Amino acid sequence: MTEETEILHFDRPGIDRAADLLSSGRLVAFPTETVYGLGADARNGQAVAAVYAAKGRPSFNPLIAHLADPAQARDHVVWSDQAEVLASAFWPGPLTLVLPLRPDHGLSTLVTAGLDTVALRVPAHPAARALLEATGGPVAAPSANPSGRISPTTAAHVLAGLSGRIAAVLDDGPCSVGLESTIVGLAGPAPTLLRAGGLPQEALEAALDAPLQSVSGADVVAPGQLASHYAPRARVRLNATEARGDEVLLGFAGVAGTLNLSASGDLVEAASRLFDHLHQLDGMARPIAVAPVPDRGLGRAINDRLRRAAAPR
Ligand code: TXA
Ligand code: MG
Repeated sequence: MTEETEILHFDRPGIDRAADLLSSGRLVAFPTETVYGLGADARNGQAVAAVYAAKGRPSFNPLIAHLADPAQARDHVVWSDQAEVLASAFWPGPLTLVLPLRPDHGLSTLVTAGLDTVALRVPAHPAARALLEATGGPVAAPSANPSGRISPTTAAHVLAGLSGRIAAVLDDGPCSVGLESTIVGLAGPAPTLLRAGGLPQEALEAALDAPLQSVSGADVVAPGQLASHYAPRARVRLNATEARGDEVLLGFAGVAGTLNLSASGDLVEAASRLFDHLHQLDGMARPIAVAPVPDRGLGRAINDRLRRAAAPR
């Protein structure tokens, strides 16, 4: 089904229109500090089904429910001391917590893809917060890209992938973090890093005062962990210090490149530019070589996304 996708802005009429669309079961893409999300009313099964359809997303892949206020989490999940520690340290922000569902959780089972847990996030972005407050309830939102493609960090990226398939996009400029949220599983015996992301592992471990477990390749509970995800159309070669043949080069620090993630070697700046630069290089329709990025802090999440972009598919 093709529809005209409205472009809304972060002002009262824009927020009210976006909230009205969500309340009537329509899909609205909106900015968060990590990436743009494709929002639907998380209690409305038809609206959530439309998210899967618009993205072409495999139905086994559950969605994150976004909340305006950390206190709302208790309406949906069994809260815990560890959840309290992490939520009070990092919400609102680029952290998603996976927790056991309450029997009366009220969410569409399509949000959880039938699991007995749900992923919750309270974003910090002012436009996201205004929209969530105006909507009042939980908003399910995966990244606003066709399934398997690069996540969007601008409204233009959203429109390039989903124009005509969603009711509206709320445009409030580029995302500041630029990497998806870090996902921590709190439903098992020990806190587990399910996806590296915009909040560094070191910060989480400092708050918990304990190391995070990591998931083994065998039990993939977050399909964001699938090897080939975040994929540009072009072939990707990692750890390159120069372009070969007709490659374009994504540079970092001293490796200049066609585009550079951060000439000064700043990992925060690099994260914020990663997906935009991949979108731009992918548009050049040539193979992409990528300079080495140090594997610490946000560099771990950057390297995770780059490995998936380079995975055979
Ligand atoms: O930064 C972000 O997290 C963005 C913005 C829009 O909030 N959202 C995002 O959503 O990246 P998405 O759907 O692209 O990725 C969500 C990840 C998926 O890998 C999914 O499998 C995992 O969260 N996930 C969701 N519910 C889960 C659950 N109950 N247990 C384990 N993993 C879960
Ligand atoms: Mg995604």
